[in-house]
This record gives sequence, structure tokens and C-alpha cells, in this order.
Amino acid sequence: MYHSVYEAWKKDPEGFWAEESKAIDWFEEPTKIFDEDMGVYGRWFTDGVVNTCYNCLDRHVQDNKGDNVALIYDSPVTNTVKKFTYNDLLADVSAFSAALKAKGIGKGDRVIIYMPMIPQTVVAVLACARIGAIHSVVFGGFAANELATRIDDCEAKLVVSASCGIEGARTIAYKPLLDDAIELSKHKPEATIIYQREQLAADMVEGRDFDFDQALLDNKGAEVPCEPMKATDPLYILYTSGTTGQPKGVVRDNGGHLVALNWTMHNIYGVKPGEVFWAASDVGWVVGHSYIIYGPLLSGNPGILFEGKPIGTPDAGTFWRIISEHKVKSLFTAPTAFRAIRKEDPNAEFIKKYDLSHFEALFLAGERADPDTIKWAEDVLKVPVIDHWWQTETGWTIAGNPMGLGFLPVKYGSPAVPMPGYDVQIVNDEGEQIEANELGNIVVKLPLPPGSMPTLWNAEERFIDAYMAEFPGYYKTADAGYIDEDGYLYIMARTDDIINVAGHRLSTGGIEEAIASHESVAECAVVGVTDKLKGQLPIGFVVVNSAVEKSAQEVEAEIVAQVRSLIGPVAAFKSVILVPRLPKTRSGKILRGTMQKIYDGLEWKMPATIDDPAILDEIKSAIDVYRS
Ligand code: COA
Ligand code: AMP
Repeated sequence: MYHSVYEAWKKDPEGFWAEESKAIDWFEEPTKIFDEDMGVYGRWFTDGVVNTCYNCLDRHVQDNKGDNVALIYDSPVTNTVKKFTYNDLLADVSAFSAALKAKGIGKGDRVIIYMPMIPQTVVAVLACARIGAIHSVVFGGFAANELATRIDDCEAKLVVSASCGIEGARTIAYKPLLDDAIELSKHKPEATIIYQREQLAADMVEGRDFDFDQALLDNKGAEVPCEPMKATDPLYILYTSGTTGQPKGVVRDNGGHLVALNWTMHNIYGVKPGEVFWAASDVGWVVGHSYIIYGPLLSGNPGILFEGKPIGTPDAGTFWRIISEHKVKSLFTAPTAFRAIRKEDPNAEFIKKYDLSHFEALFLAGERADPDTIKWAEDVLKVPVIDHWWQTETGWTIAGNPMGLGFLPVKYGSPAVPMPGYDVQIVNDEGEQIEANELGNIVVKLPLPPGSMPTLWNAEERFIDAYMAEFPGYYKTADAGYIDEDGYLYIMARTDDIINVAGHRLSTGGIEEAIASHESVAECAVVGVTDKLKGQLPIGFVVVNSAVEKSAQEVEAEIVAQVRSLIGPVAAFKSVILVPRLPKTRSGKILRGTMQKIYDGLEWKMPATIDDPAILDEIKSAIDVYRS
């Protein structure tokens, strides 16, 4: 069935998406499916008028499903399991919408949401969608500086946050980070709304900070109509790592996003309304936006909001407990979560304690799924394990093995085939198409499908430069790979400086900027080296200023602390190797790729353009010393 559906889309893309758009409740149905003259590469459903929150909540209530479970909050770190119906969520979202309006927030205003994995986060997100405010969720593992950059870039009028997050056994105070971020930002938000958790109370700034629960209480019972939004109006901005320290604000619209996500729930994930779908990610990432919040709510699948880790909360059986207790049909997570579970419980002893009979499929994305991990998961779970490839920019799968369209044979190491909407091609650096099985740049023929980003927030030129300019007529994914003779895609590497650490996307350029701002540093280069658990880890090769009098250990510790305070713990930056010089080409380009290969013990060739080959010996010795 996949092949016929893909061909049907290719023959008539507008007809395909017009048909799919009928599954959405519009205030005004779109008559113009695609307008190629609008935006950078055209826009979808341009005359449609819609509201995303309406489609996620109100329409289920109107369909007499208000008492059905919409969201299950499962938090082993607070020993809480709480179920919310569509009615429950609608009541809270309406009250919070009224609270936002009372603070002067309206259509088009930007609201930053810096929150842990708690139901109040979902309420805040949906309330923004309801009143047409543009939310921008910032992952809790980012430091104040990163938060400030985002507040400035989107000129947030208000920030919603919580007193703390809970990371395993640790309580992480969020509010001081928010206070620092507001201090650092040039643009000052007018107000904040803070959810006070019982684990830690946050100090509030009189007149600026307001209490989340009080806001709900003050507006209890409020009825706030859903704001009519143009399909092309932004729903959210999600910042993701670019090739510099300045993150890119990926914009998601309302109409295309609804149509595309709804399609994926049935066709890619193969779930029917009422079946439980769990994305074990964080709402701060795109997977969280699409598949913890919007996708499952939209298609009437109870979703799970999991506040915990695959291991240690309390053990490597947590995933199996949740699958069994909530009758999960499909789980979506990053391969690193399974590597963590496997490391802790290689024989999957914990599984024996649970009934997983409802479980039908495991989906992996966010980083390369190594065949070893896939096979282990297949072995212990006895269900299909599906690798699928996508990006923050696209918001949904570019290539995968669609459960709802007939499961295709698995080829280990490949996320299978392109989804309707994506004409994926491999081109050489000159932009010419190349043969099957030849490695090249992975590009997508324009236009991108509904749901994919139309632009970057306030940065159309950057959008064009970063994604459209190099291969005219195509979207540059910045991934390299090949397509085999059966049309299966293989994702091999990034073509830019992005690395993937525990499924989290980081820019080595951004980490370098943080290191370089340390007073002892003359020069540095960050590379992503292979890590058995997290996939990749950043390692910093650092040349210190000759005048520095501190010990090597002191400098190393300070640099690690500096990255943590400027970027955040999410960078997982713990390794600094001090070196006398960095290897460069004669034109001054640092040979990062060669250093990475040396560190990983891979075969490497002396670059023909190297300025001084002796430097690579110095690097090798420094690595040997570091390792010993
Ligand atoms: N708020 C504050 N700090 C956070 C955080 C958050 N929301 N999320 C992570 N951190 C911190 C961690 O506590 C850790 O801090 P530490 O250096 O003090 O130990 C640091 O950021 C690095 O986090 P991470 O790389 O996730 O490592 P970990 O050891 O805490 O967990 C895994 C490792 C594999 C268990 C975890 O990364 C995981 O479950 N990943 C898979 C699922 C996933 O989230 N994928 C994302 C996209 S699908
Ligand atoms: P993010 O925007 O954080 O989702 O990261 C997107 C990047 O992660 C992609 O460009 C890839 O480099 C990588 N990625 C995501 N999914 C996969 C996958 N299934 N296989 C290989 N790489 C992946």
C-alpha cells in the first residue's frame, strides 16, 4: 500500500493534501491548497482559517468524548500518575487562556515556556494556541544565556515557567535561571507566570512574577473562544542549533501542521483513535511538540507525559511498567534511551515482570539507530522496531517505515523510504543527481510538505542561505547519505557542525564560542566523538594563552564549567584536551574531521592540504595522555 500512496501523492500533491485536510475542523475550509507565490517556496492552505487548540480539545468534547482520557501524566520522580480527560484539559486551558489575556497577551504575541515535564506545560502550550499567541518552548537543560538569546530573538512578552525540574534524584531550580536570563536579555518580558512545585518554592519578583495556580483559580470557569487563525499564521517557534551559537527559530504554522500531524498518526504510527501513544521525549524538543502534545491530542490518542528517565527512576524497567500499566500501543523514543536500558539490564530481566501484550511497535528517531540496538530491542520486545528520520525543521517524518501503510521489510541501518510529501534525492556538491548507493548530500525537492517550516523567525535571509541557496529548487537537509537500489535511504553523517548527543542536537560551533570566551583560551576546536551510550559526545581541543599561570586541571575544570553555565548541562560537555597547537590546512581551516577520526581510532589519511603534519602527532599524544 505504501507504494501506491506515495505514487498518488507524487502524481497529485495538492489533491493528496486537499483530501487529508478534510480530517481537520476548519472555521473556513481552504479552497486554495497550495499557493506557490506565497512565502519562500509557496504556502499551504492559504485561505483556510483554523484553530489548533480547537482541533486538539474542543472538537473531542463536541463529539461527546469529553470524558475520554486525553493525557496521562506519569512521573516516577514524584510518585504521581494522573489522568486528564479532554474536559479537564479544556477547563484548565480555558482558564489559563483567560489568564494570559488578562496579562495583555493576544494573537501574534510571543510567549516563552521554560518548563519541566508537567501537565501545566501542556496547558500553557495549548492556551497559547487557543488565543493565537506564538509559543516558544525552551528545553529545561539550557542555561540562562541560551534562554536569554531566545527571549531576545522572539521578543517574548511573557514567560511561563516553574520553580523547578526534577532530574532523577536531583531537584533543579529553574527560577534562578529564568531570573538570570531576564537580567541578561536586552528585551525584557513584561511578566512571568510561575508554577510553584511542592519540591521547591521560587522567590517571586513583586509586580512581575505571578502564580500559575492562582491564575487558574482567578479564571476558573472562564470561557475563551478559540481565535480564528489563518492556516499560515505561526503556531510556534522552536529554536534549534544552527552552525553558529545563534540558534535558528524554526517556525511552524497552524493549518499545514494540523493536516500533516493528523496524517502521520494513522499512517506512520498506525494508531487508531483511543489507542495509547507514548513519545518518551521532552516537550522542549520537536518530538515533544509533535508527539507528546499535538499529534496524539489531535487524533484522539491518549498520550503520555513521562517525567522520568529510562533508567534510574527507579530502574531499567520503568518503560515496561508504563507500557503495561497504560496499555501503550506505540512508543517513540531516541535510540540512546534503549542503549541506556540495555547497558543496565542486558538480558532484559525487568521485562519479565510486565504484561506487554498491548504493545505493537517501537519507533526510534533523533539520531542514527545502530543496528545492534534495533536488534536487541526486537529481540526483547518481539515487536517491529522502526527507525525513522526527521528534523526539527520538518516537524514530522521525512523517511520511515509506515506502520499504517503496510509494514515494509526492514533493512538494518536504514530508516526505510520517503514519506508522501518528500521527494528525497541525493546530489553531489555541484547539485547533480547521483547513482544509487553513492554517498552525497540529501536534499528534498521543493516545495516542502504541509507542517514543514515555511521560514525562520525574523530571519528569512538566513532561512534562504541555510537551506535553499546551495541547491536551488531543493531543501538542504544538511545530512549526507545514499539511497539504495530499492529506494531505501541511509543517513550517514551531518554535512555541517551539528552533533547529536543523547538524541539532543548541538552545534559544535556554539560550544566553541562558549569555550573561546574563557580568558585562558587562545584557540579551540570541538568535535563530536563516538560514545557507546549517547551516540556522540563533544570533546574540546584547547590551546591556552601562553601567559596563563593556572594548572592544566584548573583551566580544564573552568572551561567545562563555562560551557555548562553558558549553554547548559544538556551540552554534556565534560572533556577538554589541552594541546600546544591545532592542526590546520594551509588556508587556516581547522582539521576537525581528522582529529575526530584519530580520537575514535578510525583510519585516517594525512590531509594533502595540511600545514604542518607534526601537529597531528601532538594531537595523538595528547589524546593518549588524556585517555590514560
Ligand atoms: N532540565 C535540566 N537539566 C537537564 C534536563 C532538563 N530537562 N534534561 C537533561 N538535563 C541534564 C541532565 O541532568 C544531565 O546533567 P548532568 O551533567 O549534571 O548529569 C545533562 O543535562 C545531560 O543530560 P543527558 O545527556 O540527557 O544525560 P543523562 O545522563 O541525564 O541521561 C539518557 C541519559 C540516555 C538516559 C537520556 O538522555 C535519555 O533518556 N535520552 C533519550 C530520550 C530523549 O530525551 N531524546 C530526545 C529527543 S527524542
Ligand atoms: P533534530 O532537529 O534535533 O530532530 O535533529 C535532526 C538531526 O538528527 C537530523 O538532521 C539527523 O542528523 C539526525 N537524525 C534524526 N533522526 C535520525 C535517524 N533516524 N537516523 C539518523 N539520523 C537521524
